[in-house]
Amino acid sequence: MTETFQFKLTATDGKARRGEVSMPRGTIRTPAFMPVGTVGTVKAMYLDQVRDLGADIILGNTYHLMLRPGAERVARLGGLHELIRWKHPILTDSGGFQVMSLSGLRKLDEQGVTFKSHVDGALHHMSPERSIEIQGLLGSDIQMQLDECVALPASPKEIERAMEMSLRWAERCKVAFGDQPGKAMFGIVQGGDIPHLRVRSAQALAALDLKGYAIGGLAVGEPQEVMLDMIDTTIPHMPAEKPRYLMGVGTPDDMLKSVARGVDMFDCVMPTRSGRHGLAFTRRGRINLRNARHAEDMRPLDEESSCPAARDYSRAYLHHLVRANESLGGMLLTWNNLSYYQDLMAGIRKAIEEGRFADFMAQTQEEWARGDL
Ligand code: GUN
Repeated sequence: MTETFQFKLTATDGKARRGEVSMPRGTIRTPAFMPVGTVGTVKAMYLDQVRDLGADIILGNTYHLMLRPGAERVARLGGLHELIRWKHPILTDSGGFQVMSLSGLRKLDEQGVTFKSHVDGALHHMSPERSIEIQGLLGSDIQMQLDECVALPASPKEIERAMEMSLRWAERCKVAFGDQPGKAMFGIVQGGDIPHLRVRSAQALAALDLKGYAIGGLAVGEPQEVMLDMIDTTIPHMPAEKPRYLMGVGTPDDMLKSVARGVDMFDCVMPTRSGRHGLAFTRRGRINLRNARHAEDMRPLDEESSCPAARDYSRAYLHHLVRANESLGGMLLTWNNLSYYQDLMAGIRKAIEEGRFADFMAQTQEEWARGDL
């Protein structure tokens, strides 16, 4: 642990990087997967469990927490870490993306975004400055700039307008964030699926000398190939000595391929959300527990897993729980999935350290392809 926010690369293997992001609340081993704790809970999990699986950091969402219980209230209650009982780092997303995907009626202009709460319909305004203020009230360790993420496909004009405005918002967020040595504010590269806009965004953000950079605006409806092309286009223009975070991604396969291209951090609702919907991620690929073929299958998901949810419960029982809509079904599958994700990242980190990442990736993909046990 350190007094100031720092990033150190400890090994590289091709473009894949092994590193450590350190700050007063703890150290994040990268490549890292950050479980999503949108409203101050990683759904269906105790945070002690999340920590025990190997998570060094979790996410929170400005949009959700400002609406309920409210940023000022969280601050009065001692901050998000104190409230939810997680003493390790927290990264908060800025709200722009969630406003777009969740709120009703919204108006976006240079000043910020006006939107209608999905909770009670009240009107709210959020400027870049207010987003940073809220993230400060929450006590977030890694704060994200307010940005505008457009869903793909979109017109080049629209993508360029949103990207340029996001750059101006990055500057305003940098000023609002000021000098906080133990914390960081990350910029977000936008530019949709247009290579020269991605390059322009990455270069202009690099010039702001922020402490870390995200790639945003991906996994928003485009094919995986387009996403990987955009990562390839963007990364050479991101400072090598700063952490690189691919927002909202992804599947285990997306993460392997992105690590191979130099990404350090990920977050995604996939392991938690799909767990609540009956889907298990395993060494041998995905298993949909809703499927009738599991109804009398007394085998566990994976007897070699490090996770009790995968070893100690039969597929027949998981199938029954999922079909009966029992909360334990979602709890066990979320536990299994987050365990799988964290073990995958641990495997990735070790492989990079030992200079065998390409082999690790090929073997992992081959095992998925062999299919269910
Ligand atoms: N989460 C996933 N993609 C994005 C993005 O482009 N911007 C923000 N702020 N959050 C995201």
